[in-house]
Amino acid sequence: MDSKQTAGEKAVECIRDGMIVGLGTGSTVFWMIQKISELINKGLSIRGIPTSKETEELAIKLGIPLIDFSKIDYIDVTIDGADEIDHNLDLIKGGGGALLREKIVASASRKLVIVADESKLVKKLGAFPLPVEVTRFGWEYTLKNICKLGGDPNIRMIDDKPFLTDNGNYILDCRFDEISNPNKLNINLNMIPGVVENGLFSKMADVVIIGQSNGKVKSITK
Ligand code: 5RP
Repeated sequence: MDSKQTAGEKAVECIRDGMIVGLGTGSTVFWMIQKISELINKGLSIRGIPTSKETEELAIKLGIPLIDFSKIDYIDVTIDGADEIDHNLDLIKGGGGALLREKIVASASRKLVIVADESKLVKKLGAFPLPVEVTRFGWEYTLKNICKLGGDPNIRMIDDKPFLTDNGNYILDCRFDEISNPNKLNINLNMIPGVVENGLFSKMADVVIIGQSNGKVKSITK
């Protein structure tokens, strides 16, 4: 079995009947969503909060009931992927461009479970360019301010046009050779006018489930 599938399916074991479940975005979480749908067909009752339009469409197609923030005060558990994970369980997310909704959903969650394959584990964050969501207005100026923090930003493109997030914003993929203090960089980036949110998830993950090539999983707890 694919390592992403192993991790995604294992994470579902923490879901209990009646829970509100944050549904992450990406190819690892895809397997978690498939598994939830199977369990719903066998009688499990949960409601999901999707972190992207892509996940929302998949959940609707698979018959997973959804709910929104107007009806709830918190989320029981969120299961999401990551682009990099360090030994403190700090993360880089946003490779799929869903980082803003992912961070809102994660921060509303009592428990954040991250699923990934072994390639996502790193000693230091930063080899993966950090996605930063910025407003379209003034993005060139925002980019210059990110450079002042030591980043080397590039606007994300798709089919020769800037990539647009589900929220109508741009993404700047920012190379920071090595991120020695994720918490500080997270705060400093979010203080720049025009930055909507960035993909550093510092001290948010409770458990990381790593799918391994031998079909087993490794769980790392905070
Ligand atoms: C999307 C994300 C994803 O969780 C991250 O990119 C990992 O994706 P995948 O499981 O496909 O490797 O942050 O914004």
